[in-house]
Amino acid sequence: MRISKLLSTSALVTGLALFSGAAAAEESVEVLHWWTSGGEAAALNVLKEDLEQAGVTWQDMPVAGGGGEQAMTALRARVTSGNPPTAVQMLGFDILDWAKQGVVADLNALAAKEGWEKVVPPALQAFSKHDGKWLAAPVNVHSTNWVWANKKIFDELGLKQPTSWDELIAALDKIKGAGYVAVAHGGQPWQEATIFDAVVVATGGPEFYKKAFIDLDPAALNSDTMVQAFDRMTTLRSYVDDNFSGRDWNLASAMVIEGKAGVQFMGDWAKGEFLNAGQKPGEDFLCFRFPGTQGTVTFNSDQFVMFTVGDDRRAAQEKLASAIMTPSFQVAFNKIKGSVPARTDADGSGLDACGQQGMKELAEASTKGTLFGSMAHGHAAPAAVKLATYDVITAHFNGEMDSQTAAQELANAVEGAK
Ligand code: GAL
Repeated sequence: MRISKLLSTSALVTGLALFSGAAAAEESVEVLHWWTSGGEAAALNVLKEDLEQAGVTWQDMPVAGGGGEQAMTALRARVTSGNPPTAVQMLGFDILDWAKQGVVADLNALAAKEGWEKVVPPALQAFSKHDGKWLAAPVNVHSTNWVWANKKIFDELGLKQPTSWDELIAALDKIKGAGYVAVAHGGQPWQEATIFDAVVVATGGPEFYKKAFIDLDPAALNSDTMVQAFDRMTTLRSYVDDNFSGRDWNLASAMVIEGKAGVQFMGDWAKGEFLNAGQKPGEDFLCFRFPGTQGTVTFNSDQFVMFTVGDDRRAAQEKLASAIMTPSFQVAFNKIKGSVPARTDADGSGLDACGQQGMKELAEASTKGTLFGSMAHGHAAPAAVKLATYDVITAHFNGEMDSQTAAQELANAVEGAK
């Protein structure tokens, strides 16, 4: 009797010790994201490893689908059921939408302690903060108006990097004529919208892009210039292969990597795929701005939004936010991801040639006033407008309407979604 009492007491003590040990070891974060391609996953690994070193377990919640539409649907279900993840990868206006729902954490104390205010550029802070409160940690700056080209094909055909629309078309004709797929494209609405970002800047210039996609000016949306931009999409459509429909963006990158296709029009996350395949910029692939958009940068920034979690998960959440904001992490991560750091004080000198170019052009565009949020990646207008815009671009790209009708429809759709 006595022995058994002793045993049960000691069992209780052991149990308590185990419990407190387990509580410390169980510090964990659940992170929802859409980084499932080879390059994306490799970049995310840097963060996972940093956290694990800080004693925080990573619970992965990947939701595949470039651009993040599917991830946002999954998030809504989690929040609706009252069980949000610790942190969620998110873009631009989506962040502000969630901030307004009152379900996000307040990171002000951490931000003040670590001095985020001074090092995060205002264009990103516009999305990391709401009503004076930090709710997200920005991890990078991507830009959407890039071309990724197979160097061997360019060399073989004696092609130079095109700098205007006419030069681009001449180059695509040569690539197609030589029997390659000229444009590697994945037929998904967000990918067509990504190309449209660049085509609109190339066709109407930076001011026109701003009027149409940021100011949502009906006269710009339904204008001759927009009709011309749609006509150019029709032209580009003639350079994609028959199997483009539904193809994921990273499979389109692989076509360029493997020498089956000449170019891909895609944001600089594509660089992550080339690097992940062991390719080198300037040797195996070329990066240059979409012809006619030089001097303008359409950007998007991935941020990790911190949701309201129980007190037991707060410390781990702050460790995650702090890890994301560490300068050395930002450099290591962005080297792999293809983007550039979200901190102005991060040392970019170790980035490759494309990264250096990206950083320089970002700074120049910011000074000149030609840095704009990407329509395709949720940094120009709220999701409702973005998705309405996608629908028109994709319907037109698939030949469901002519360019004149598309411009009218675009103005109508945006007006209806505002
Ligand atoms: C973008 C995101 C990038 C990249 C891309 C393709 O919206 O900002 O980080 O992941 O989608 O998935």
